[in-house]
Amino acid sequence: MPGRHAVEAEARRLEKAGLKLLCAAQDIRAAAALTLEINRLKKLRNAVLAVHVYQRPELLAGVADFTGDSYQLAKDCQSAKADTIVFCGVRFMAETAKILNPEKRVLLPAPDAGCSLSDSITVAQVRALKKKHPGAPVVTYINTTAEVKAESDCIVTSANAAKILRVLFKKHKKIIFLPDRLMAANLAAELGVKLGKDLIPWNGACEVHERFSPAVAAHYRKAYPGAKILTHPEARPEFVAQADYSGGTSAMLDYVRTHKAPAYLLVTECGLGELARMRFPGKNFVPLCRICSHMKLTALENVLQALKKPQAGQTVEVDAKTAVKAAAAVRKMFEIAESGE
Ligand code: 13P
Ligand code: SF4
Repeated sequence: MPGRHAVEAEARRLEKAGLKLLCAAQDIRAAAALTLEINRLKKLRNAVLAVHVYQRPELLAGVADFTGDSYQLAKDCQSAKADTIVFCGVRFMAETAKILNPEKRVLLPAPDAGCSLSDSITVAQVRALKKKHPGAPVVTYINTTAEVKAESDCIVTSANAAKILRVLFKKHKKIIFLPDRLMAANLAAELGVKLGKDLIPWNGACEVHERFSPAVAAHYRKAYPGAKILTHPEARPEFVAQADYSGGTSAMLDYVRTHKAPAYLLVTECGLGELARMRFPGKNFVPLCRICSHMKLTALENVLQALKKPQAGQTVEVDAKTAVKAAAAVRKMFEIAESGE
């Protein structure tokens, strides 16, 4: 166990990284003993920690090697020089890391961390849709299982869905878009295509974002004049229409960084607001958020335990055939997202 002086120095590092704004001194000290041990084991095991921006702040401030949205983390994991990737996020993200790195060990410290979107569609349902709309390419949100990705032509994230669809609509009249019906509606509005005719949606939704109501937006507009309302494209179109900006998690952070507003409402999962407060201590944030119970399953204790001795379910496995097909769809996303088209 690390000594008292080492823990105190680590606690000061965590405070400086922003935890002081969010946590009590005794909680930071307790976290420090764990982050010291995790960072020591990481070196010993040649492991890197990928931490999604919705994760708990002590993970983001204390142990992350990579922090970002789904897209950035997939890219970072692809080029990671490590034997092991520890994924602090949800299962579909860890699976994406495994698909791109079949030779590496990928650990998911919270093996039950799912996602309502990922749970909303099966491979059989994708195949049935393909039969119903022959010739239409399948464009699939990254929030899906490896098996569903393997049935898809191209993966997208919130950071690039509009661009990728725009490119594909140049060659195709009809595109199947899975599985988020609200994101499909937002994209159809943005691209000026007909939902159900040009863009064929599935019936999934994010259990966190689908619940934000336009009435709440109207209330906050009155209560905080001049405040900017930001949300994620997984929210309902009626809510997105009331917001000043809709974008993926990294795009929302960029918006805060590049705008001067009296306050910001980050209408998304709570972790993004906590990270924004740590990154931009001079700016004001109005708390309005919902917890994603899946995203919040990972604690420092789980990470430490997984690094020491992973339990059943914490080692992510994707069968080789599925991984090859799914990787092709993920790489198609990288190719189009980074093209000059
Ligand atoms: P981002 O890709 O924008 O980080 O979104 C991931 C997610 O799960 C949103 O709910
Ligand atoms: Fe899935 Fe929604 Fe949680 Fe993101 S916030 S992981 S989309 S349930």
